[in-house]
Amino acid sequence: MICDHLDRVLQDLTARYEQVCVVGDASIQHSVVSIQKFGEWSALWLEVSEERKSLETVQAIWDFLFAQSMTRRGVLVCIGGGVLTDIAGLAAATYKRGIDYINVPTTLLAMVDASTGGKTGINYGGLKNSIGVFAPPVETLIWPEWLKTLPAKEFLNGYAEMLKTGLIAESGRLWDRLLQYDPDQMDIAPLTALIADCVAAKEQIVKQDPREEGLRKVLNLGHTFGHALEEMNNQHAEVSSQMPHGYAVLYGLIAELYLSVTKLACPKEPLQQLTQLMLHYYGRPVCKCSDRDELIRLMQQDKKNERAAEINCTLISNIAQPVINQIITIEEANEALEYLFSL
Ligand code: GLY
Repeated sequence: MICDHLDRVLQDLTARYEQVCVVGDASIQHSVVSIQKFGEWSALWLEVSEERKSLETVQAIWDFLFAQSMTRRGVLVCIGGGVLTDIAGLAAATYKRGIDYINVPTTLLAMVDASTGGKTGINYGGLKNSIGVFAPPVETLIWPEWLKTLPAKEFLNGYAEMLKTGLIAESGRLWDRLLQYDPDQMDIAPLTALIADCVAAKEQIVKQDPREEGLRKVLNLGHTFGHALEEMNNQHAEVSSQMPHGYAVLYGLIAELYLSVTKLACPKEPLQQLTQLMLHYYGRPVCKCSDRDELIRLMQQDKKNERAAEINCTLISNIAQPVINQIITIEEANEALEYLFSL
């Protein structure tokens, strides 16, 4: 829920739970000093990154909770971006067979995607989010104040996931409203309303299919190509030149909308609109021609696949008309990559 007075909402937790502990991202510790509760409650501030999205970090949280003698009548407040809420959610879901946890997302990406829906996890065996459980937070508290400090890159990172939601959500108006939003102005009131609508659209889908057995796969639009681009780019890149998740999703959306046009006769307009956004705000993806085989291999290994070595995508036949489980041939995947890299 959107909450204008985070301190007041957090204060209520003291009445609802016997004990409250906090796990937060150390990089935002200085910016939460105005929230009194984060000073009063026992807190563990962690350095987080994809490399630290590991069992050791989950263990550090378990150790902290044991040291605080946390019981199942307590609640863990998890504050940070998606990496932090994924790890802390897993720690909460497994500590003493599961305690309540509350997410306080601090990035746009975490607000509109990671902090709702109950996917928790860590990276393992070199694979992203390969160990985890479905365990929803009891609440996700979205505090619009964070948005005021959002750097442009962070905004674009979350905006791409919002665009994805606009393309699949039942209300076609969401897509139009997202396109009308001016990223250069960063007007907080309309952005907050758009976040609330994106979260509501996601919650509606997750409620019907919490374990991603069918319908929830619509949320994967853009992610088959996006994950492959992100993984390939980030395997070798320095942290400073890594491709942010939202940028990879935007590139993935373009490749998968191209396939939506060619395979499902989706109108060309959304593809053209996304392409304009990419050229204006995100820039082109960096990739060498020789990387194409590696991208195809990564897509064939995607954990979302139901069968080995196939490429499975969610596509759309129009705005708000997603179609799951579309099997893409290697030739079609190459054609979509060719299109993306020719822009
Ligand atoms: N990020 C997609 C999902 O939560 O299913």
